[in-house]
Amino acid sequence: MATSLRPSPFTADRVAAARAVFADRNPKSRAAHDQARAVMPGGHTRTTLSHAPFPLAFVRGVGATLTDADGHDYIDLLGDYTAGLFGHSERRVLDAVHAALGELASAGVMHRHEVGLARLMCERFGLDRVRFTNSGTEANLMAITTALQYTGRRKLMVFHGGYHGGVLYFATGPAASNAPYEFVLAPYNDLPGTLQLIERHGRDLAAVLVEPMLGSGGCIPADPAFLAGVFAAARQAGAVCIADEVMTSRHGPRGLLSLRGLRADITTYGKYLGGGFSFGAFGGAAALLDQFDTNRPNHIRHAGTFNNNVATMTAGEVVLGELYTADIAAAHTARGDDFRRRISDVLGRHRVPLSVTGFGSMIAFHARASAPTNALEVAERDANLQELLFLGLYQRGIYLAVRGMFSLSLAVTDVQLAAALDALDDCLRDLAR
Ligand SMILES: Cc1ncc(COP(=O)(O)O)c(C=O)c1O
Repeated sequence: MATSLRPSPFTADRVAAARAVFADRNPKSRAAHDQARAVMPGGHTRTTLSHAPFPLAFVRGVGATLTDADGHDYIDLLGDYTAGLFGHSERRVLDAVHAALGELASAGVMHRHEVGLARLMCERFGLDRVRFTNSGTEANLMAITTALQYTGRRKLMVFHGGYHGGVLYFATGPAASNAPYEFVLAPYNDLPGTLQLIERHGRDLAAVLVEPMLGSGGCIPADPAFLAGVFAAARQAGAVCIADEVMTSRHGPRGLLSLRGLRADITTYGKYLGGGFSFGAFGGAAALLDQFDTNRPNHIRHAGTFNNNVATMTAGEVVLGELYTADIAAAHTARGDDFRRRISDVLGRHRVPLSVTGFGSMIAFHARASAPTNALEVAERDANLQELLFLGLYQRGIYLAVRGMFSLSLAVTDVQLAAALDALDDCLRDLAR
């Protein structure tokens, strides 16, 4: 590939100037951040939300509109990294949870809402059995436990660029904070490279854990042939196939993997399914999940005070039963695909080296001219341009992930989507100068 010798126009000085504009515009958020830093390291408790010079403090959300401490309104296109699928004021969830908590709150008991949600999940996603956790991270940890116990093996295949939770993070190799499993790190979307590793480690491999689309890693869909090839080889080797659909189960009627015509042995869930409350779940084949059946002599223990908490279970019932039926999910996916195409059209009108990737209602911007297909290509993004885009969209009232991600909620209106495209167009015009 030819390399340009011209220096990038997206200089550190431009970034410093954009940060200064941001700081001037948001004095109350700065004050809130200073206070937060006194009691929380870095002023936050969720690393993804932190950025220079400081993150905005928000005070209110209505529908898909957020208002910050300085009184600016934002169109919320982040949608809480896919968890906020219903906007900020979905009455049906709030009313149902209010009523359920009025009957039974914080009780260490079995109740109808957990069975109701389990039944809805099994029907919707084609699972034999499901168990609940408090987060997607925990769901993945428990899915891994299930596979390790079932196979009696010790290695786990994961993918470069994958993210399965705070202790299962593989953006640039295993992170220092990761749980101490024996990982085999494979190249995403590289079937021959992955097959070689499966061949080398096959006899020790308990599971392959894969996202059908890298979410946190940049909304990079897996090539369907890659996924099919990996699953076939993993099964041949006797390993359990675990699909992490914590983000992607929102796509189509039954999740992204099913749209690819594939089925995992265990699938993990989280985010929007809890209707705004902490949520995680793992489910799949009875042969695997029934290891948790306490009628079995050597069953796996899986406790958790809030696993079946009434608020989340009730909210989940409303989500799958009413708010996000299979038909609505299919329509929302199509709406996202259409919006991504319109973003692509806007990018095409400007000479700024940006590309867009994603599937359905999950979309990511990349500061590189051609769309990346794996984590190494994502790492080649121009960090300055990436930040200028993010700050430029903020300044124009569009709220997105620091890393350049949108996830559309059902609350966002067509008028808001059109306004977001105008803001993008204006931002790119400015960047191209
Ligand atoms: C694909 C994927 N798996 C797992 C997780 C972890 O979920 P949680 O943040 O609920 O622990 C995330 C969170 O972003 C995710 O994107």
